[in-house]
Amino acid sequence: MANIHTFVTMNDKLYIFDTTLRDGEQVPGCQLNTIEKIELAKLLESLGVDIIECGFPISSPGDFKSVVEISKVVTSSRICALSRAVEKDIDAAAEALHFAELKRIHTGIGTSDYHIKYKFNSTREDILARAIACVKYARRFVDDVEFYAEDAGRTENEFLARVVEAVIAAGATVVNIPDTTGYCFPAEYGAKIAYLVNNVPNIDKAIISTHCHNDLGMATANTLAGVMNGARQVEVTVNGVGERAGNTALEEVVMAVRSRKEFPVHTDILTKNITKISHQVSSLMRMPVQPNKAIVGRNAFAHSSGIHQDGVLKNRESYEIIDPQDIGVNDSTITLTARSGRAALDHHLRRLGIVLGTEELADAYKKFLDLADRKKEIDDNDLYAISGISQDDIVQKIKLDYLQVVCGKNSIPMATVGLIIDGEKCSATCSGKGPVDAAFTAIRTLVHRRINLEEMLVQSITRGTEDNGIVHIQVENNGQFYYGYSADPDIVTAAAGAYINAIAKII
Ligand code: KIV
Ligand code: ZN
Repeated sequence: MANIHTFVTMNDKLYIFDTTLRDGEQVPGCQLNTIEKIELAKLLESLGVDIIECGFPISSPGDFKSVVEISKVVTSSRICALSRAVEKDIDAAAEALHFAELKRIHTGIGTSDYHIKYKFNSTREDILARAIACVKYARRFVDDVEFYAEDAGRTENEFLARVVEAVIAAGATVVNIPDTTGYCFPAEYGAKIAYLVNNVPNIDKAIISTHCHNDLGMATANTLAGVMNGARQVEVTVNGVGERAGNTALEEVVMAVRSRKEFPVHTDILTKNITKISHQVSSLMRMPVQPNKAIVGRNAFAHSSGIHQDGVLKNRESYEIIDPQDIGVNDSTITLTARSGRAALDHHLRRLGIVLGTEELADAYKKFLDLADRKKEIDDNDLYAISGISQDDIVQKIKLDYLQVVCGKNSIPMATVGLIIDGEKCSATCSGKGPVDAAFTAIRTLVHRRINLEEMLVQSITRGTEDNGIVHIQVENNGQFYYGYSADPDIVTAAAGAYINAIAKII
């Protein structure tokens, strides 16, 4: 552990260095083009990321261009470009960063014996000299130079400390201690950072950074051990994307630090934006997030056992350590399965506008258990059947009378929607980005309400083209969330039906 004196005098701001666009993007098949990188960089900036590593400019013209273009549009986060300990790499990084308001060059070399012997066929003394030279060279272009000691996780601590001391003396402002192969255990990685804190005389002139890979599933634990021992910058990626088993996940470190008040640091991340950026990274990189992924997985706030559901419905904190709203998720999910209790069934019936008395509920619960034993998950159609109330019984003030759309390649999508509101017929024609957007705009025009579409899920039961399209929708109005559902072989009609079903609940 770092000695207590160093620890208490240390800054409590934890810098978030995001490398989704560099280390994260090295995943095969997940490459992003410049426009996609700019979009993500802007989202990272609005998330409050301190440093955005945008690419490795010497590696390809695409990477070079991305660093240039992001440098022009992102102004509040620092823009970082990677290089090897090679002058032409550093030249390219400096040139690509030309337009950046806040800039950093990240340069370095392998320091473990594996790298020194097999990768460079060199000696420790030569590597030390090259490390010093690259930092001095990079400082000719920028004031902020970060040095990485590649494979520091497997570098002997004494030699690592010599390298770190020398590069700080040469002008490095940040020293990055990567566990490149994801080899370390948390106590070991924490001890490595503590060793540097206690044995590098000029360590107070630089910030220590963690950069952990997840090969043994330890990336977040190692990063937090690093922070506990004095690191004040963490290198992370959204959703933990990255080569092999990935990098440390941004959302895990940020929420761990925020959830455990005894942690000695804070970040400036606007956590409400986490879910949005997680979805965007997943969709642009075509990398689905595993459902049980901490913080951002689909099931991270879903409760399915009866005891947990009952507890959460009484008080969320019984089974949740994070408020889902803190990361931009509207609510916890209570999934209906054979293990759900009466409270969960009642909760879902009420969501559909069905309020049952005690006896009716007990009766519905029996039917529910019978069905849930045979079906994996119970949907809204099942709930209507179980309660004995049909969807039409819940008098919907708005009904879809007709819908006609024009769409296709090289045409402007248009929709004409006819509604019956409180028995009165009305219609509107609107254009949109696609037929669904056009239909939704027409519906909004007719109901005169500000309605935000929060989520839309389109499913088909089988793979056939004649199948029913099922659409689930969630909308927001005045801070309240409403759910709508519809099914139709025509997917646009199903979407319009679901939208109207949700709006009917508002009205
Ligand atoms: O994992 C690693 O060592 C790296 C360095 C280039 C920082 O990504
Ligand atoms: Zn890495």
